[in-house]
Amino acid sequence: MADKKAYLKIDGIEETIELPVMQGSEGPDVVDVRALTSEGLFTYDPGFVSTAACESKITFIDGGKGVLLHGGYPIEELAEKSDYMEVCYLLLNGELPTPEQKEKFVSTVKNHTMIHEQLSHFYNGFRRDAHPMAIMCGVVGALSAFYHDSLDIDDAHHREVCAYRLVAKMPTLAAMSYKYSNGQPFMYPRNDLNYAENFLYMMFGTPCEEYVPNPVVAKAMDRIFVLHADHEQNASTSTVRLAGSSGANPFACIASGIAALWGPAHGGANEAVLTMLDEIGSVENIPDFINKAKDPNDPFRLMGFGHRVYRNFDPRAKVMKVSCDEVLKELGLEDDPMLKMAKELERIALEDDYFVERKLYPNVDFYSGIILKAIGIPTNMFTVIFALSRTIGWISHWSEFHSSPNRIGRPRQLYTGPSKRSYPG
Ligand code: ACO
Repeated sequence: MADKKAYLKIDGIEETIELPVMQGSEGPDVVDVRALTSEGLFTYDPGFVSTAACESKITFIDGGKGVLLHGGYPIEELAEKSDYMEVCYLLLNGELPTPEQKEKFVSTVKNHTMIHEQLSHFYNGFRRDAHPMAIMCGVVGALSAFYHDSLDIDDAHHREVCAYRLVAKMPTLAAMSYKYSNGQPFMYPRNDLNYAENFLYMMFGTPCEEYVPNPVVAKAMDRIFVLHADHEQNASTSTVRLAGSSGANPFACIASGIAALWGPAHGGANEAVLTMLDEIGSVENIPDFINKAKDPNDPFRLMGFGHRVYRNFDPRAKVMKVSCDEVLKELGLEDDPMLKMAKELERIALEDDYFVERKLYPNVDFYSGIILKAIGIPTNMFTVIFALSRTIGWISHWSEFHSSPNRIGRPRQLYTGPSKRSYPG
């Protein structure tokens, strides 16, 4: 139906306001409220629960049915049959690559993996105990001071070069933030390795001995990258789009996404899961923590449970759970006490009425935290790995925003402060 309409009747306004209803290729209809401002009205939707802030072709989520599609392809199929480089290409271009296109894409990304040597000096300005997300906010923002040759945001090729640079350099910058914290030398990228293997090498390799990535671990790492690659208009992606809407430097926009991701209600949850498990301490204490999570007067929440959009299950969590079992088996960690505790917590919460009634299921971060710990990634690097994976989503949305007519993002408000008054005296 091309000209479906919605009608709004407001007390005190004689006429009924007619609003166009837009239809996407999937998902609910969207009432176009743009004309309301000329009627002297705003809509109110804190947390953007019912507001579509943009039109997008990149990713579709049906939270009720637990569906996540990139370019129309279900995440389960991409996780099973594809790999991160292919998913990056898909998010950027809207189609899966041919073998030739993939080879060219991978080789272009590899050509950009090194960072300007001067940028490595930035790390010395941080304390050794700085949180790596704090370092990432700084060094990714600092990229904007280096790459001036491709910054015409209205030029599709320039936008593409920015995307290559970001996807290629994020693992290097992320691994450097880890190496800086433990005092080991930075490892230069190795272009004979694939994307996930190279990241593991830069994290765990040293100049003293050969590092051979474990293929099961590298595959699990690649799957973590795939499962975190994009998630439509979440808080960090919306932040990148909003920052980008002013025409800001793309690297600075990505730094704003990293900042938004850091919080425990978003990407910081995978770190918070492990911190919570540490705090719980042992299986006997789980019921106390479940009770705390259920107590309306206690701010404590079970980290890694619940999702704003998924009200049934998180399809990424399903895939991640399988990966989690594979990695634990490969590494002989099935009996690790913390991992056992995580499984017991999951079992109890899934049977508890409070969680069942509110449709609170383990989200992707619950299992990714467990895998990352098993691989030997320090807890404070978990959100950095999320940021690395999500960079392709951020830059794809940023690029989509700039590829069609657009305007600066500028939400309005319901003002409840004092009315106009005179300065005293
Ligand atoms: N533990 C206990 N109770 C919870 C939890 C939780 N993890 N999550 C939600 N609830 C409860 C709320 O207290 C509320 O209960 P009430 O109806 O009795 O007041 C109800 O469930 C609905 O919660 P909301 O806050 O309205 O849900 P919202 O959509 O705003 O929040 C969020 C979603 C932020 C993910 C939330 O579930 C949460 O804080 N989870 C823990 C953090 C986490 O794992 N974040 C990762 C998200 S996934 C990602 O970013 C990749």
